[in-house]
Amino acid sequence: MLVNLRDICAIAEQNNMAVGSFNTPSLEAVRAAITAAERTGYPVIIAHAEGHEPFVPLDAIGPAMVALAERSSAPVCVHLDHCEHLSYMRRALEMGFNGAMFDGSFTPYEENVANSRRAAAMCAGYDCGLECELGSMGTRENGAGHENDHVGKAVYTNPEDAGEFVEETGADILAVSFGTVHGIYKGEPHLDFDVLKQIRERIGAPLVMHGGSGVSDADYKKAIDAGIRKINYFTYGAKFAGEAAEKTMKDMKARNADSVIYWQDLTMAAYDRLVEDFTHVIKVFANGANPVA
Ligand code: 13P
Repeated sequence: MLVNLRDICAIAEQNNMAVGSFNTPSLEAVRAAITAAERTGYPVIIAHAEGHEPFVPLDAIGPAMVALAERSSAPVCVHLDHCEHLSYMRRALEMGFNGAMFDGSFTPYEENVANSRRAAAMCAGYDCGLECELGSMGTRENGAGHENDHVGKAVYTNPEDAGEFVEETGADILAVSFGTVHGIYKGEPHLDFDVLKQIRERIGAPLVMHGGSGVSDADYKKAIDAGIRKINYFTYGAKFAGEAAEKTMKDMKARNADSVIYWQDLTMAAYDRLVEDFTHVIKVFANGANPVA
């Protein structure tokens, strides 16, 4: 069933847990995230990032995301991730997306506030919760996970600005920067939980961790206990799925060098691995809470 971003994060707040927000730029990923939610009994967010348009266009995957979410037995939010253009956001909202992130984190504070307010006014006309970002992770979500993702310097969210930002923009939930990065981690992630705690003391809005894959289970728990309610997860799941497809291909060739490798051999291996990985992290993000569905 469809549950909007505000309400799905409220479920997380009530249960001191986080909802997994999985980028789903393929039908396999959409189905895997929803299957993992149904099997575990926890809510899930399926997300299409504007930067993933080259992988699959919004017009192609968006209607499928909404249709599969509607008929799911699990609470599912269909979310637009890292949107920088309001015209693109409008298209997703018209399609039935019920969560959207306006990402003005690469612009100066005042510009970020002004554009986030425009996004809030747009979302108010739909059954849609809004996420905004303050501070910058210094990396853009483009799914490649390489060094060229780094488009600026990471700037941790200033706790002093966070309250005012949420009030001024009308954001329902806030993405914060405290040490995670998009893409593959080049070393151990070092998260600054003090920044997170200070933000949490100042605002009541649920907080979002971007760059959420590749973090240890212990750090997920600490972040959730410090107020993170939505965890954005993409890169490592996509990597595991790629490895599963590669292994399938190698195994088939090892058994018979003349094997024909069909596309669906690879997509099925990737799907199974995604279900396994998403199921694992959804349970970690539940942080000991009872299933809700
Ligand atoms: P990862 O690259 O760590 O999976 O983060 C994804 C993300 O934050 C999407 O918004």
